[in-house]
Amino acid sequence: MRSLPFFFVIAFSDALRNPNPNAIQVCTQKNCRKRGSQALVETFRDLIPPGMDSSVEVRTGGCVTKCGVGPNIAISAGKSYAEYSGVADPTTASAILEIALEIETPPAILVSVLEMARATKAQSRDERLSILTAVVDKLTPAADGSGPGPSHALASALATLAEIHLAHSPPDVDAALSDARAACLACGDHRRALRTLARAEEAAGNFAEAVDAIRRWSETSDSPGDMGTKSEIRRIAGLAA
Ligand code: FES
Repeated sequence: MRSLPFFFVIAFSDALRNPNPNAIQVCTQKNCRKRGSQALVETFRDLIPPGMDSSVEVRTGGCVTKCGVGPNIAISAGKSYAEYSGVADPTTASAILEIALEIETPPAILVSVLEMARATKAQSRDERLSILTAVVDKLTPAADGSGPGPSHALASALATLAEIHLAHSPPDVDAALSDARAACLACGDHRRALRTLARAEEAAGNFAEAVDAIRRWSETSDSPGDMGTKSEIRRIAGLAA
C-alpha cells in the first residue's frame, strides 16, 4: 500500500454522495480545466487495468468549491466518499486508484501513460510519433495472445497517433484511418478515439462510417443525442448528398 505524499485529502466521510458504488468524478469546471482536468479523465481511464473498467466509473463532475487547489476529484468507494486536490500527474492518479479503490495499475500501463504525457511535451512531430509508436508496441497484445490485453491506454496512444496524422499537412488519411480504427477496436467506447475515427472517415470520404462513429461517440457522452451531435450528423450527411 502506497502513501499519498503528493496531494491532500480534502474531505472524507461515510456519506454516499454519488449513486455509483465506485466512481471517480473529475471536476472539469473552469479552474480545474485550466489545470488539465479534462486530460485527467482520460488518464484515470487509461490507468485502470484491462477487464476492470466496469468496476469503477470515471466521469466528469462539477465544482467541489476547492477551485484554487485543483485539479480536484471526488471518489465514491462503497459508502465512503473522499476528495483529492492537486491531482496533476499519472503517478499521483495511480496512487489514488490503489489507495481509494484498491485498483493497481500494471507497470507496463503506468509507464505507457507517463510516456504519453511526455509525448505531449515533445519538441517535434517525429519525437511524438516515436514515443507513441513505442507505447503502442508495448501495449499491443502479441499474435499468440500473450502480453497485455486491449486497453483504454492502447486506444489513447493510437487515437493520438491518428490525430497527429490528421493534423499533418497534407493529412496522412490512410495512417489516421488505420490508427483510429485500431484504437476503436482496442476500446469500443473510447470517446476521443471515436471522435477521431469520425474525422478520419470523413477525411477519407467515408461519410456513412463517419456518421456511425459520431453516433457511437454520442452514446459515450454524458448527454447522448445532444444538439451538437445532431448538427454534426446533419453536417456530414450534407457532405454525402
Ligand atoms: S473549478 Fe474545480 S473545484 Fe471549482
